[in-house]
Amino acid sequence: MKMKIRQIFLVLTFSITFVTALQTVPVIVASHKLVPELKSEINADNIEAHNVTSVTNMLKKLITACSSDEYLLVNIPGLQLDDITDNKVEQWPFVSNYLKMASSLVGLPWVHGTLDFQFLERYIIRNCQAEAVYVNSVNHEEVAPYYDVRTRVIVVNLPPLPIDGSRDGTLKEYDELIRKIIRKLPSPHYTLLITSDVTTTTHPVPHTFIRSNPDRFEIFNNIINHSSRATEYERNDNVKNVDPIWHKPKHTNDRYLRNKKKDEIHFFRDNELWMKYQQLVTTVIVMILGLFMMKIISIFGNIKQWIIDKKRKNQLIIEKNKKHD
Ligand SMILES: *[C@@H]1O[C@H](CO)[C@@H](O)[C@H](O)[C@H]1NC(C)=O
Ligand SMILES: *[C@@H]1O[C@H](CO)[C@@H](O)[C@H](O)[C@H]1NC(C)=O
Repeated sequence: MKMKIRQIFLVLTFSITFVTALQTVPVIVASHKLVPELKSEINADNIEAHNVTSVTNMLKKLITACSSDEYLLVNIPGLQLDDITDNKVEQWPFVSNYLKMASSLVGLPWVHGTLDFQFLERYIIRNCQAEAVYVNSVNHEEVAPYYDVRTRVIVVNLPPLPIDGSRDGTLKEYDELIRKIIRKLPSPHYTLLITSDVTTTTHPVPHTFIRSNPDRFEIFNNIINHSSRATEYERNDNVKNVDPIWHKPKHTNDRYLRNKKKDEIHFFRDNELWMKYQQLVTTVIVMILGLFMMKIISIFGNIKQWIIDKKRKNQLIIEKNKKHD
């Protein structure tokens, strides 16, 4: 009898799990400078999965402040909560430090769906007059040092995490890469967003169990839920403590040429610029096409007239000839 009840219970649990399992991704957001009340856009706690709309609204709020000089959007395909809990903190020596230093810090273990990186990239470009840089491999060389002060969006798309024993090593490698990129930036004011563009299946866990085990069900609980984070405050007022790496250009002419070259390709590369002039360019093209069409139509009209005139002339000649006959 006891056995049977247990079986029924198991089957019930299984079917409930099957029905309510969610496809989720974890999200970490850290801003060096304070952007107050980010969390007001999302659920007060992480007990239930957040929806993408509310998380995107939170990110819009963060981006609208334009308080960072660099926005790193890091996609680690396959990343899940278990990769970024307290007992994996050794795999993230540098990122965990950046998180500790961040004035605004949000960790979401489960977001129901993936974030739209392209939208976020465009939103940053448009709002903060930023320029995009892409890193598509574990190679920080893809981020060239830069000298100007323009805001950057650095979109980092990493290879999917392996599911074998090398996973921890890969996490460490990615941690090091993020540090190398951040160290190249001329300004210490960065925003770091880490997530995955593929979801993993999350089975529901009783709420009481989540509440009593934050080290297992929160992202880096010791950092993100640190007692000092009970109230928000600016942790990086004295930014001069952070030694920025200034790359001194050797040749001012080099720099001029480089900037010139950059400006040349900007027009087609830079979405924002294109969006701004799209209408103008389209209007000009349409106008030119219109003039061209009008010209062609008038030429055709002339030819037609010419043919009609010719026919009429021939007709007259024939009629004349007939009369003569
Ligand atoms: C998403 O989450 C927010 C914040 O909790 C909530 O107000 C909103 O109704 C949710 N939207 C959907 C579509 O579930
Ligand atoms: C840390 O987590 C506990 C339990 O989830 C919560 O009660 C507490 O308010 C959190 N502390 C901070 C500083 O967020």
